[in-house]
Amino acid sequence: MTTPSRRTLLAMAAAAPAVVAANASAQTPAALAALTSNRAAIVTGSSRGIGAATARRLARDGYAVTVNYLTNAELASAVVRDIEAAGGRAIARQGDVADPAAVRALFDACEDTFGGVDVVVSNAGIMNTAPMGQFTDEAFDRMMSTNLKGSFNVLREAARRTRDGGRIIALSSTSMTQKRPTHGPYAATKSAQEMLCGSLAKEVAGRRISVNALAPGPTNTDLFRVPPALRQQAAEATPYGRIGEPEDVADSIAALCAPDGQWINGQLVFANGGFF
Ligand SMILES: NC(=O)c1ccc[n+]([C@@H]2O[C@H](COP(=O)([O-])OP(=O)(O)OC[C@H]3O[C@@H](n4cnc5c(N)ncnc54)[C@H](OP(=O)(O)O)[C@@H]3O)[C@@H](O)[C@H]2O)c1
Repeated sequence: MTTPSRRTLLAMAAAAPAVVAANASAQTPAALAALTSNRAAIVTGSSRGIGAATARRLARDGYAVTVNYLTNAELASAVVRDIEAAGGRAIARQGDVADPAAVRALFDACEDTFGGVDVVVSNAGIMNTAPMGQFTDEAFDRMMSTNLKGSFNVLREAARRTRDGGRIIALSSTSMTQKRPTHGPYAATKSAQEMLCGSLAKEVAGRRISVNALAPGPTNTDLFRVPPALRQQAAEATPYGRIGEPEDVADSIAALCAPDGQWINGQLVFANGGFF
């Protein structure tokens, strides 16, 4: 077998984006499914909320999905059942993202079942709020180990195992820009996602992997359990006149994962309907 010359290799590399662009321009559901048919995604914290909507959406786009949860096994199974009923492929795996061994096992499960990892969405998160003077050590430590150490564990494994051409996305939050009373520690964990993703985007240079932090605004999930007045205030601060649904955020994540999304890289992307 002859080894391709350097010139041939350069020509092949130059042609690759054109092939991707041609594929992307034919982005019918069938074309997208064909592009993603052998590709697999891991979504942490996908038993409910934004993660569950993202798992369903990525499955609809053709990804085989590994659904992760902490305690809600039945909800995670329901997400898998929904995906399978729609003709997709999915598995559910329990695992605390704060535990590096559990995160490694999650990636093992995805690789063993689906042959590799192409998309990683570091979504699992909790929100503990209190005035700083009243914040307990336990609430602070739990949130740091889930949101910061947990996301680090996931991004570290993603750096090691995501296949070339993949996507890595970590959930940040618009709250990081707002400096709201009681939200300081939570917002700190979310602004950290921008830093982690910005560095990682450069570390995976040459592998055509985009890495972005995505910051939703107020979204209708268990995490955003607030008094009706505050909910109304959030809706009024959004030009669309409503807070987000998990599917709105899942759509934005899917856009980053689509072939057309490849050029958005190393960014903090606000997906909040214009909430300010
Ligand atoms: N909702 C919003 O308004 C909003 C706004 C901006 C950003 N975000 C961010 O978006 C992400 C998802 O939020 P959400 O509103 O969808 O939350 P959610 O509805 O409360 O769901 C949280 C998910 O994370 C899982 N989880 C929690 N701790 C975990 C751990 N240690 N290990 C593995 N999984 C864990 C939960 O699993 P179990 O079901 O097993 O508990 C659940 O699937 C979070 O990172 C959050 O900070 C949310």
